[in-house]
Amino acid sequence: MSNRTVPNDLSAFWMPFTANRQFKKAPRMFVAAKDMYYTTADGRQVLDGTAGLWCVNAGHCRPKIVEAIQNQAAELDYAPAFQMGHPKAFELANRIVDIAPEGLNHVLFTNSGSESVETALKVALAYQRVKGEGARTRLIGRERAYHGVNFGGISVGGIVTNRKMFGTLLTGVDHMPHTHNLAKNAFSKGLPQHGVELADELERIITLHDASTIAAVIVEPVAGSTGVLIPPPGYLQRLREITKKHGILLIFDEVITGYGRLGTPFGADYFGVTPDIMVTAKGLTNGVIPMGAVLVSSEIHDAFMTGPEHVIEFFHGYTYSGNPIASAAGLATLETYKDEGLLTRGAELAPYFEQALHSLKGERHVIDIRNIGLVGAIELESIPGAPTKRAFAAFVKAFEQGVLIRTTGDIIALSPPLIVEKQQIDTVVETLRGILKTLE
Ligand SMILES: Cc1ncc(COP(=O)(O)O)c(C=O)c1O
Repeated sequence: MSNRTVPNDLSAFWMPFTANRQFKKAPRMFVAAKDMYYTTADGRQVLDGTAGLWCVNAGHCRPKIVEAIQNQAAELDYAPAFQMGHPKAFELANRIVDIAPEGLNHVLFTNSGSESVETALKVALAYQRVKGEGARTRLIGRERAYHGVNFGGISVGGIVTNRKMFGTLLTGVDHMPHTHNLAKNAFSKGLPQHGVELADELERIITLHDASTIAAVIVEPVAGSTGVLIPPPGYLQRLREITKKHGILLIFDEVITGYGRLGTPFGADYFGVTPDIMVTAKGLTNGVIPMGAVLVSSEIHDAFMTGPEHVIEFFHGYTYSGNPIASAAGLATLETYKDEGLLTRGAELAPYFEQALHSLKGERHVIDIRNIGLVGAIELESIPGAPTKRAFAAFVKAFEQGVLIRTTGDIIALSPPLIVEKQQIDTVVETLRGILKTLE
């Protein structure tokens, strides 16, 4: 008989982005959550320093969101997404447009950040084609970018471990350099000073391929999953100027920077740069139900609305696009953000967060600290020959000491829920200070 009937057997679930064998020898399990805290299987409280995976922006199990999901599940569980509708998906699209940068007026729904990225890339390619520019098939991403795990996303993405196993990926993709420069920018508070000229690498790529072959450029305004890479002032503005000049669409992947993370509703607001397409997910539903939203300009949307009216304008979509329960969760999430001012609360707390984080300068192994809004990173020197090990040890110790952090490579990333209080920021930082003193 298989051991499948053994209670709590961990073998069947092949966990995502996890060292499965290591995890299953010493599992770390959450069984409940409320506001800023998780509860572990052994009954300990763990302070959430990462908003789950950068998504629980309003904190955990918020009443309005819980109630909306419960009610919706009992009232209309599912409605076909194709050639049928239900009111809440339309209402949610309108509410997203209300808080979005001026000009982004139309929304395509997805179920994740990865699907939002694929959707955005496909809209970009199809838009160029319906405009009569079908030779624009190239997509430009950036080194160290994370755009989810599907084929388009890993193609324009720039993280080698996410790419190397999967063949030739999408063809016709090129990459700009990333902007991370420890030699010049270490311990920057807020935007780092050096590196705006790296935006001109886009001109070099355009000279190489010719603008007439390029459909779109995709970047994260602040690269999150790769370890919090913050652009220098003027960098995104320069990308906007270059893309506009050459008829290339600019896509912002705001899966992390969207919904208040930087102290503004979107990264586009923080930097004062409006893209043609904006990719969102995570904070849209507070992480509670999988959902993403891709926002596009009227110019893009309207270009598709031609031809006979009985013909489907864009052959793309998901069974669960605008799912009723996800839509209800999204509406309740946006209401919670509005009621509590969470889309801008990060701006009030950012100076305190910055000061607290940078107080770790000088602790053992710390080679950089960087921050923007309620995102922070502490980069550690790697153990020679064993990259990732030191930061992972910090992650496990922090969990044992009651604080959830996130690590990527040897970088500790922090992104607490936007309801965090100052004394909880202190707890995260002081726990880390203690841990840094004990790390190998
Ligand atoms: C910038 C960015 N894009 C896309 C994704 C993928 O999102 P998902 O894991 O929901 O597919 C992520 C996830 O962290 C992300 O940070």
